[in-house]
Amino acid sequence: MSAFIPADPDFGEELPAFRKSEEAIELLARRRSTAADYLADPGPSPDELDAILKIAARAPDHRRVTPFRFIVIEGDDRARAGDALRGAYAVSNPEATPERIEAEARRFARAPAVVAVVSRVAKHHRTPEWEQVLTVGAVCQNMLVAASAYGYAAQWLTEWYAFDPQVAAAFGLLETEDIQERFAGFVYLGSASADPKERARPDMSAITARFADVTPS
Ligand SMILES: Cc1cc2nc3c(=O)[nH]c(=O)nc-3n(C[C@H](O)[C@H](O)[C@H](O)COP(=O)(O)O)c2cc1C
Repeated sequence: MSAFIPADPDFGEELPAFRKSEEAIELLARRRSTAADYLADPGPSPDELDAILKIAARAPDHRRVTPFRFIVIEGDDRARAGDALRGAYAVSNPEATPERIEAEARRFARAPAVVAVVSRVAKHHRTPEWEQVLTVGAVCQNMLVAASAYGYAAQWLTEWYAFDPQVAAAFGLLETEDIQERFAGFVYLGSASADPKERARPDMSAITARFADVTPS
């Protein structure tokens, strides 16, 4: 069956201000991440992945900075990208066993598709860095939700390699006078080989106040 690919709205097209959907509420209220070790084949088709990325990119973005980009790691690229992990891990962990280094090189192979979400902060833009970074978080969350709606399980991971300068260089991340790129994370996508269980959730009364009850700090 071919994937449902919604039509792109035209620029300036009038769009509904809301879309009442019990299905969407259910998806959001019950969404769970699935650990990368349980993300099996099949992954999203090329059309589905394009749609998932397009939906992810519809995150709120103050002044349309587009402070993010994607690097897709699929098929044989998972091993090639894994070579960067092997090299970086071996350098940072000179005491590591060869088995451990090989296990690190196989990280991207856990799922059929991995999307590196690159945060791309425009350093001198009128939109503060903080807001740009918040946009990238929203992009990742949109991706998780879109993946679920397409029937795929997903997990947003940083692990060690999101913070490793050698891995960043191998992925071509930029640091210039104007641009700072960093990994927001790696979104692993696939078909769940086991369903996740509900996790502990925040006590809503502990994190929600009415303004009338606020004590000035
Ligand atoms: C920026 C970011 C980085 C994360 N990195 C990791 C990670 O490296 N390892 C991990 O086990 N979970 C990581 N997580 C958490 C999982 O993605 C997931 O949110 C968590 O397991 C809770 O599951 P839930 O999404 O179903 O609530 C990260 C989450 C975020 C937002």
